[in-house]
Amino acid sequence: MSFNPLKERGVPLERQLRNWSELNSQPYDKDSIDPYSRCRVIVMNGIEVEAAMYSHQFSRHSANLELKRKLAMVRRVEQQQQKAVNWLIPGDESTLEVTIGFEQVAVDLTAWVAQAEPDPVMKRVYEFGLLEDFDHLYRYANLLDMTEPKKAAAIVGGLTEIMPGRPTILEHRHPHDDLRRPLNLYGSDPLSSLHALTIMCAEQQTMNFYMTIGNRPIEPIARGLYLEIGQIEEQHVTQYESLLDASATWCENLVVHEYNECYLYYSFMQTEVDPRLKALWELHLGMEIEHLRLACELMRDMDRRDPEAILPPEMPEPVTFRPNKEYVRKVLAEQVELTADELEFVPLSSLPKSHRYHQYQQAVHGKSSVPSEAVITEHEARKGGEYRLESEGPHPVEHLKMENAS
Ligand SMILES: [Fe+2]
Ligand SMILES: [Fe+2]
Ligand SMILES: [Fe+2]
Ligand SMILES: [Fe+2]
Repeated sequence: MSFNPLKERGVPLERQLRNWSELNSQPYDKDSIDPYSRCRVIVMNGIEVEAAMYSHQFSRHSANLELKRKLAMVRRVEQQQQKAVNWLIPGDESTLEVTIGFEQVAVDLTAWVAQAEPDPVMKRVYEFGLLEDFDHLYRYANLLDMTEPKKAAAIVGGLTEIMPGRPTILEHRHPHDDLRRPLNLYGSDPLSSLHALTIMCAEQQTMNFYMTIGNRPIEPIARGLYLEIGQIEEQHVTQYESLLDASATWCENLVVHEYNECYLYYSFMQTEVDPRLKALWELHLGMEIEHLRLACELMRDMDRRDPEAILPPEMPEPVTFRPNKEYVRKVLAEQVELTADELEFVPLSSLPKSHRYHQYQQAVHGKSSVPSEAVITEHEARKGGEYRLESEGPHPVEHLKMENAS
């Protein structure tokens, strides 16, 4: 069944505004929600935040009043969509519980994208990042078990394993080594642009979230962990945004943003198990089809270029949340030792002692205790071992196998 949003009729813009009670979504029940439904809410919130912020940046870079008015109108709707989506998260779900959801997104969304990515060079970038967020999930799970206390297994629902990835302490790299080779909007597969934008949005919202809520805990170890991992999310945003074609015009980028919103709502409408959420994804898809039409109109008027040249001929296969346990284990076994040197991934052991990686590590760790390590040793001290969820057997990497279970 092929679906092309350029050929569909969307909801007219003047009918897209909703009143307060329509926007104040009934939150989901945190104990019975499907873990991947929670993930879809987190992703779509990140996508809508980027939609609003991109539109603001576009407006700040244009003196054209007519254009600013058009952007402001669509942006108001993007903001309403963001509220309708993000207000699904219930108030009784703690910040740390939501954090586990964010890192589960980073694992299973990135794993999906890596496997669906047509460009082998980009695929390596996603696999590289995947192992880092996989480790964050493990560190936060130990914090959750220690402070709330609660088992992260109840949140990820056994769909995602929880064990060390590339140890967070080793992820801190000099900023110059976080940039990658960009794709080309007109030369690359259009799916590559959609993938890069999707992961960039998810990582950016994780970064924004930790920037804002990382100071809410009282326990110093929790505050330390959020600030340390928050700095890695900055690295991840730097990496993923560098994949995008920076020579694209504001209008071209707007078209890709709106198409990607259509793609994700379409994907989640296909795969959603919660009927209430499914109806919301469908409603928002209808709105995005109209946003896309308007963005294409702008691109034709302002750039004198054809939007179809940068978009897929029909919707790609739906972005799907599903367990990726075997795949993650394979990537762990093959790539956990990697770091980055300029644009390349190389074994950490191959870097000379004089490499800026070591200077950066010294600057940020120094003689300080490192929160991502301290959270494990403190968990061991308090609970007699670390917290893991290894449903498929022992860790695939010898030196990361568990010594003491709690
Ligand atoms: Fe939107
Ligand atoms: Fe992360
Ligand atoms: Fe990340
Ligand atoms: Fe939109």
